[in-house]
This record gives sequence, structure tokens and C-alpha cells, in this order.
Amino acid sequence: MKSTICFDDVLLEPQYSEICSRSEIDIGNTLKNVGRLNLPVISAPMDTITGSKMAMAMFAFGGVGIIHRYNSIPQQVAKVHNACFNEQRHVVGVAIGVNNDFVNRAKKCVDAGAKIICVDVAHGHHSNVRHALNVLKNTFGSQVHIMAGNVATLEAFNDLADWGADSIRVGIGGGSICSTRIQTGHGVPTLQSIIDCSVSDRDASLIADGGIKNSGDIVKAMAAGADFVMLGSMLAGTDETPGEVIKTPGCQPQKVYRGMASKEAQRDWRDKISSIEGVAHIVPCKGPVENTLSEIVVGIRSGLSYSGARSILELQSKAVFIKQSSQSTFESSTHITSRL
Ligand code: IMP
Repeated sequence: MKSTICFDDVLLEPQYSEICSRSEIDIGNTLKNVGRLNLPVISAPMDTITGSKMAMAMFAFGGVGIIHRYNSIPQQVAKVHNACFNEQRHVVGVAIGVNNDFVNRAKKCVDAGAKIICVDVAHGHHSNVRHALNVLKNTFGSQVHIMAGNVATLEAFNDLADWGADSIRVGIGGGSICSTRIQTGHGVPTLQSIIDCSVSDRDASLIADGGIKNSGDIVKAMAAGADFVMLGSMLAGTDETPGEVIKTPGCQPQKVYRGMASKEAQRDWRDKISSIEGVAHIVPCKGPVENTLSEIVVGIRSGLSYSGARSILELQSKAVFIKQSSQSTFESSTHITSRL
């Protein structure tokens, strides 16, 4: 039986460095048919993460946001419009499904200015996704960037690339709000999937998605072969996320962050509740997403400098992973609190 590793199982060994200033480090990367992004971070297409405000803030900071698909076509188009209306250069993505009106939804969103179409399904290695990618490629050619997922294996990654995906979301069952592994017994630790998919000879970009908790995990994901990371929980609770602020006397303001397959999300967006593979959670409000993204940028740059790398590509060629024991995982945490 194959053994696997997750983010907390490993560390990156510090390398000799000649980098004198972290400003020498370029953490940008290129998305096909879109261009270069200064920040390799994509906000997840979830109804408590990416609406128009988040998409605008992500682009302003150098990343990109994928507007969730849990709305009517006119509602999703309006969100794209809010971002793109005055600024044609704005890069905004939209999520679509694989059933019913998906082509119409994609066309309307592209007409409104969307530059990325994300085929957003839980199990991406599926004939429905092959069909959807085929139709989208024939409809849009290289007019837009086509993202698809999610997958967990090299075979799936290669298939989606061959079916026409320009980038592929890698990670099944690792999301902070995900209960897929509990409900179905299926999944692969996200870092393992990244390592497995990174040897692909296809030219699709690899987007690490699910279970990324801090900038250290982002650096590990990149070092293992990810070109971009997709974030949910790290952005949850920021001002730009959709949803009401919950104010309780004597408590810090809070917001809801929920899985799109949670009972709560399914109740809001579908007629019926089927397999529940996510949970809803209350998180503290964090202020502007710019603050969170600034911390992420500082963390990624610092991470690259520890590996003596000036770019993500250099990090990938230099990175040396080591496995840590459960005791060293404890030592790797800020363990002063456990001594008090
Ligand atoms: P996080 O960054 O660890 O919070 O994970 C976010 C990712 O979880 C998203 O980008 C999706 O790939 C995934 N996801 C979103 N909703 C669900 C769900 O309800 N069940 C399982 N995975 C989910």
C-alpha cells in the first residue's frame, strides 16, 4: 500500500542563500491566456469567500478571485460586471458547473468580462468534466483561461490537461471545512497529490487547493510543484468575503465560513440535500483582506529566501524536503503555550 505525506509531516531544509533583500524575490507566475500575476494566490469559488468585492481586492493585490456559481446567471454576471465594468484589464474568474446551463452561464460571464472559467466540481476526474471541457474549448478556444478540478492523482491531472484544462485544482478531501474523507472514505493528502501531479509532462498549471493553513504550507505546496495556491479558510472572515457580520454582545464580530457541500449551503442553493461533505463554521472577522495578503506575501518571500531561491521555479529546483516526527511537529509549533 502506498504511504502518503501531508503538510505537517514535512519541513524544508534551509539552503545556502545569497539573497540580500527579500525584494529580490519574485513570487509571480503566469496563467495561460491571462498573463502574469504578481501573487500566486487564487481565492476559492465559495459563497462565503469570493463575490465581487473579494475578486476586486484579489486582483488589486496581484492575485485573482473566482466568483462562486451558487447564484442565478444574472446574479453572477452582475458580480463580474462590478469588477470588470470600468476596468477592462481587471482579471476575474467565474466558476461554473457541468450540468444544465453551464455553457450559457460561461458565455454570459465572458461577455461581461470574465477571463477565467473554472469548471468547479468535487470529483473532477469524471466524464461530465471531459464533456464540459470539450464544449468550452470549442466555444472559447484561447479567448479565456480554462481551470478545472478537483483531482487527486497524476492520471486525473493528465486527463484533465488532455481534455483542455489550462490549469487544474489539485486536492480532494483536504479542505478545512471538508468532510469528504469522513463521509466517503476517499481522498489524498493535498501535499501528496501535489507531489504526484508535479511530475506531469503536460503544460497545465497546478493549483494546490485545500488544507493550506499558513504561509508555510503555501511555500511547501510551491516547493512540491504547485504554480498557484487556492485559499478558502486563510481568507475567511475578511471584510471582502460575502455574508453578514454576526455581532454578539461581549464577543468579537464573526462571519460564517462554510463548505459548499455543507448542509447549510445545500439548503440555500439546492432544492434537496444530498451527500453532506462539508461543514459550516463561525470565524472571527479579520479586517481588510489586504492585511492577510500582505502577511502571506511576507511569509512566501521569507520562505523562498530560506531556500536561497529568487523565484518559484528556483524554489522547486532547490527545495529539499525532510520528514518530521510527531515530536518535531510539536517543536515546529509555537509550543510555549503548552508549557504554561
Ligand atoms: P481551505 O482553504 O482549506 O479552507 O479549503 C478550500 C477548498 O475546499 C475549496 O477551494 C474547495 O476545493 C474545497 N471545498 C469547498 N467546499 C467544500 C465542501 O463542502 N466539501 C469539501 N471540500 C470543499
